[in-house]
Amino acid sequence: MTTPIVDVHLQPEDLNAALQTDVRDGLTSTPKELPPKYFYDDRGSRLFEDITRLPEYYPTRCEREILDRCAGHIAQASGADTLIELGSGTSEKTRLLLDAMVEGGRLRRFVPFDVSETTLRDAAAGIAREYPSIEVHGVVGDFDHHLPLLPGGGRRLVAFLGGTIGNFTPPDRKRFFAELVSGFEPGDGLLLGTDLVKDVGRLEAAYDDSAGVTADFNRNVLHVVNARLGADFDPDRFQHVAFFDLDNEWIEMRLRSRATHTVTVPGCDGLEVSFEAGEEMRTEISAKFRRPGVESELAAVGLELTEWWTDSAGDFALSLSVLR
Ligand code: AVJ
Repeated sequence: MTTPIVDVHLQPEDLNAALQTDVRDGLTSTPKELPPKYFYDDRGSRLFEDITRLPEYYPTRCEREILDRCAGHIAQASGADTLIELGSGTSEKTRLLLDAMVEGGRLRRFVPFDVSETTLRDAAAGIAREYPSIEVHGVVGDFDHHLPLLPGGGRRLVAFLGGTIGNFTPPDRKRFFAELVSGFEPGDGLLLGTDLVKDVGRLEAAYDDSAGVTADFNRNVLHVVNARLGADFDPDRFQHVAFFDLDNEWIEMRLRSRATHTVTVPGCDGLEVSFEAGEEMRTEISAKFRRPGVESELAAVGLELTEWWTDSAGDFALSLSVLR
């Protein structure tokens, strides 16, 4: 086994500066907004894990069903010797892909990419131990700045799983795909997980579960702003809201202020923010897709969709596309 290489493009100072800017911009815009990437401190990551096991939250189970059934086909169809996983987290579903790629006999390298250096180092070390025959080369970075710094060479498959692409607005998706492909060579591929448009009742239940786990997850962004910027948000003063926006075909999560009140954010130079009773702040969009839309967004950056797999219920899709 070789010790993983880890390229660190993001320092804790950069992350704090970005948080400060994002929170200031978000809380001073109309309507107010906080970015979903700040849900995921330790507590938020645990709450998300809990969400993935809820009866109402189908995406994780659906994607696992597809990977269980199709990993061998994915490995073979991609022909890749390098697997790059974006937002790799603990790389749990990745093992299904890695196993299939090792089985196929071509895998040489795994590249996990994540914003959290500790998460990344843990994942990289775990994979290096379990897969002694491959090189593990981790990259600490964010999607907005560091995609072009992914290591080149070989035939690469980039996996972006879980439906996280749904957190981007359409213009942000376009930028993201273009940036990613700017570092591709012909033959490199993208394995993309996308949640699909379906019955509104099921969509809304997946983001407003009866146990209230998603509500706690939503309010966790306030705990994060309190912990990192010294703010005095009282999460109990905010109600969880989730609805499917039929025009944009995305789930939108919001926090609705129960009463008129003011919040102070010392870490943003003492910024004071007032909330009206009933005022709603957007905390996440989670876009839902249809095949023609995915196909044309990928084609717009030169990626040809070559495979489209769904779970047996047709709720979630994994697509494979390749740069010609
Ligand atoms: C991790 C972004 C894929 O959008 O379904 C789950 C996050 N938010 N429940 C999603 C989430 C509320 C999740 N992603």
